[in-house]
Amino acid sequence: MKRIGVLTSGGDSPGMNAAIRAVVRTCIYHNIEVFGIYEGYNGLINGNIEQLQSKDVSNIIQRGGTILKSARSEEFFSLEGRKKAAKNIQQHQIDGIIAIGGDGTFTGASIFNQEFNLPFVGIPGTIDNDLFGTDYTIGYDTALNNVVEAVDKIRDTASSHNRLFLVEVMGKDAGFIALRSGISVGAEAILIPETPTYINQLINKLEEGKSHHKTSMLVIVAEGDDAGGAYEVAKKVAEQCPEYDTRVTVLGHIQRGGSPSALDRVLASQLGNAAVNALRDKKTNVMVGIINKEIVHTPFKKAIKHHSKLNKSLLELAEILSC
Ligand code: F6P
Repeated sequence: MKRIGVLTSGGDSPGMNAAIRAVVRTCIYHNIEVFGIYEGYNGLINGNIEQLQSKDVSNIIQRGGTILKSARSEEFFSLEGRKKAAKNIQQHQIDGIIAIGGDGTFTGASIFNQEFNLPFVGIPGTIDNDLFGTDYTIGYDTALNNVVEAVDKIRDTASSHNRLFLVEVMGKDAGFIALRSGISVGAEAILIPETPTYINQLINKLEEGKSHHKTSMLVIVAEGDDAGGAYEVAKKVAEQCPEYDTRVTVLGHIQRGGSPSALDRVLASQLGNAAVNALRDKKTNVMVGIINKEIVHTPFKKAIKHHSKLNKSLLELAEILSC
């Protein structure tokens, strides 16, 4: 390995910069030249590639977003696009690529590797925490803390006005953000894509809360819940309980922004370093992750296909503590 490229792709996540820094500094430590590829796979296609030095990653460990910028590249999913990318990689004599992102990023890497035989290593960077092969993805902890900070504020209004608040958090296919944030804020109910939502059951739960003298209530709704997003759930609740004073807040992209937490910075630093080591050890087409404090390498296909399992005991805990 003489030259490594690094890119960030898909939704940005806090801690991506810390991972880029770790990749660059580890490469330099091992006398490997390192190239930043800008705007995800679009940068490979357009040749938007520049060599990075140690100073280029100074003062970024604390910054959210990604200095390399990100994109969900449509063109990379066409053979024409990938051929252009292969040409640029050859021109820059890049021997391997580290791709920081989620399942879309690793799907692209996997296809490209099959066609052009270029070594890829993935780093899990997504707030969703939905990748198999790591306990946590980079950005998840920060996103959780963002949600908790926002919902604690919403609680003030909920309790001052005796209101029911439905707060929608991110997670199209996975309820990891909803589940842990819901427990952290003491939500009355948590609605996630992994379990079916029954509006009657939800209303029973809210009524039970009222019978325990609760005057305000909070429900966390993952955007991909089968009952719909928070607005849809609010509508269905209002049909049966028009007397509730209900408000909806969709937190949106505020969840993905801001300075990464210390946990995310350390995770990103470990995984950035591990990704370079994986390429040096000729491990390819794998995602690096940490399970039980150990670095593990999971084939892309497995990381994408198998969702990380939701901790069922946390669901039970939420149920017990919200009565
Ligand atoms: O994958 C990360 C994520 O933030 C999801 O939770 C969310 O559904 C999606 O990205 C939003 O994507 P975009 O920023 O492209 O609208």
